[in-house]
Amino acid sequence: MNRPAQSSPSALPHIEALVPYSPGHQPEGDGWIKLNTNENPYPPSPEVGKEIQTGLQRLPLYPNPTSAALRDALAEFHGLESTQVLVGNGSDDILNLLFRSFCSDRVPAGMLEPGYSLYPVLAGIQNTSLVRIAGNKEIDLDPDAISASGAAIFFLTSPNAPTGVGYSLDQIAAVLEDYNGLLVVDEAYASFAEEDAVPLLEKFPNLAITRTFSKSHALAGLRVGYALAAPKVIQMLDRVRDSYNVNSLCQAGALAALRDAGYYQNVVNRIKTTRQNFFHELKVRDWFTYPSQANYLFTEPSKPDGKTGPAVAEELFQFLRDRKILVRYFSGSSLTAGFLRISVGTDEQMNLLLTAIDSWRRHAQQK
Ligand SMILES: Cc1ncc(COP(=O)(O)O)c(C=O)c1O
Repeated sequence: MNRPAQSSPSALPHIEALVPYSPGHQPEGDGWIKLNTNENPYPPSPEVGKEIQTGLQRLPLYPNPTSAALRDALAEFHGLESTQVLVGNGSDDILNLLFRSFCSDRVPAGMLEPGYSLYPVLAGIQNTSLVRIAGNKEIDLDPDAISASGAAIFFLTSPNAPTGVGYSLDQIAAVLEDYNGLLVVDEAYASFAEEDAVPLLEKFPNLAITRTFSKSHALAGLRVGYALAAPKVIQMLDRVRDSYNVNSLCQAGALAALRDAGYYQNVVNRIKTTRQNFFHELKVRDWFTYPSQANYLFTEPSKPDGKTGPAVAEELFQFLRDRKILVRYFSGSSLTAGFLRISVGTDEQMNLLLTAIDSWRRHAQQK
């Protein structure tokens, strides 16, 4: 008997309409210089591997549900109570929990633009309207605009993504003084910055900070991030998260990384030195580049005749990709379309990139 063909079921309308997050390209095969996803070019501390190896014996058991040992160690590291810390499966997990806990289809969220491109996707999943406060080329903070936004939760990336500009404690405090909602300062890159917002937690219960082991700790593949906030905020996120949101190998690996502070201080210092040298090289070529406090630089490529703009940035992006050098191009907004975001790799990688950039400039001159 012929049965009628089933039509595939529809998801909720806002999910059907959702434009998903577009992660940076992870190429197959060897020979790529990967400067497109702000990964750390150095390996993690050798202690991480040892702890993960030991942890294999515990795999038959469920992990500690609250990542208790890591939570305590993070609290101590930041001079906070364990009740002010929540560990997640990458800081993306924490950002997701924040959206799920603090906004809805009737309670809007907000973000400073440009900012991390995952926020609009999380807002879309939650069917929340997202108020975007547009920055200017200086990416100033406007406390009045944020407090007037009507957003119950507002996301501020500092150091900013993709510009790398870091906001000062005074600027962030000025927002917190005025704003009635929860201000989330996404500090994925704080280890490379001059200051961070942790000291403000003591005074402001409306502040949440998100951090990650993916960048400074060279553990993007492990997926460990965390939130720092007032105990009340942490309690809410704790209610919403998966009971076993961080597996036991991740907990063990991140704890080992945290304990090897000396190793990571060295890694971060190397990256900051390379960043400074590369910034100088771009300046020599007369390219406008934001002063970065992160492990990437956001730069406006120009041709030898001074021509800049989206077509120029895209042309260089393709030229580099054809030579197996990956950087990131964000075509979506007028604030970003004339720029490329370049992760800081090793000195050797940056020298190869500069050679390719100079060859592109010579090509452009001959055309
Ligand atoms: C600003 C910002 N926040 C959060 C993340 C996500 O980090 P994680 O790997 O911890 O999920 C990224 C990753 O690139 C980022 O750029």
